[in-house]
Amino acid sequence: MKSGRYPMNSNRKGKVALVTGAAGGIGTSVARKLMQSGMKLVLTDFNEAGLEQVLQELRQLGAEAAAIQADLSKTEQLEELVKKSAGQYGTIDVLVNAGGIMDTRPFLEISVEQWNLMFQINVTATFLLTQLVSKVMIEQGTGGSIVNLSSAAGRSPRPLAAHYAASKAAIISMTGSAAVVLAPYKIRVNAVCPGLVDTQMMQKVREERSRIWNMPQEDVQKRWDQLIPLGRFAIPDEVASLIAFLASDEASYITGEAMGINGGTDVS
Ligand SMILES: NC(=O)c1ccc[n+]([C@@H]2O[C@H](COP(=O)([O-])OP(=O)(O)OC[C@H]3O[C@@H](n4cnc5c(N)ncnc54)[C@H](O)[C@@H]3O)[C@@H](O)[C@H]2O)c1
Repeated sequence: MKSGRYPMNSNRKGKVALVTGAAGGIGTSVARKLMQSGMKLVLTDFNEAGLEQVLQELRQLGAEAAAIQADLSKTEQLEELVKKSAGQYGTIDVLVNAGGIMDTRPFLEISVEQWNLMFQINVTATFLLTQLVSKVMIEQGTGGSIVNLSSAAGRSPRPLAAHYAASKAAIISMTGSAAVVLAPYKIRVNAVCPGLVDTQMMQKVREERSRIWNMPQEDVQKRWDQLIPLGRFAIPDEVASLIAFLASDEASYITGEAMGINGGTDVS
């Protein structure tokens, strides 16, 4: 029997994860979960103060962690980020692309600049980091796991966020292609597609919808909750659990997938 593509290690302890968007809701939760499984962490975000706060919190909990500030919209900073990350602990075994932006904008009002920025941060950075980190993983020869944050919005129309939805659809497509190319190197690439998750991002969207729908924020929240079969938003930890599973060798036969985590339905 051919064994060349079987996982080499079944344990995450001592392995190294690079997590983008680490100062944000889902990214921070992912960092905490991976730390709990014994991984070393390289955290990145462009929010320097937020990043430092998360770093200190995790170190106090016993994490071996470092922080590198980088702007996902700047290609040269991403090349530098991957170089520094690989040098930090000598390897990169897991990449979680959790950094991203969202904004509410009626389709007819989206400018080319807004469209391009959405793609630069959500798609191009996710593509480039996937490519750069997979080259490091190939060089190491020990395989790896990459998890990209897509969204339920990547699978259905979003009249108030067409640029965001299109960027998340592109992530699903890129993830599938990368998974095929990287499978011979034992590098798995998956996407997750959360529904609505209680983070700063959704706080901003709730404010925007309140203005557009002309209703108080509490009513916006009620409207969303009523549409979700489980009756509430996800908490970041619930999404982080799925990501930590996909990052681990427990998921050793899962690649090229885009997994929903949405409380039973896709709500916009
Ligand atoms: N919250 C949700 O309901 C939800 C649903 C589906 C998908 N997602 C996706 O999950 C990911 C994380 O979202 P979240 O809810 O934690 O959002 P968040 O806004 O709380 O966190 C996002 C993080 O990305 C960072 N970031 C933004 N632009 C950056 C840039 N140019 N350079 C570096 N860092 C940058 C922010 O500083 C922030 O820390 C995003 O890709 C988002 O699209 C979120």
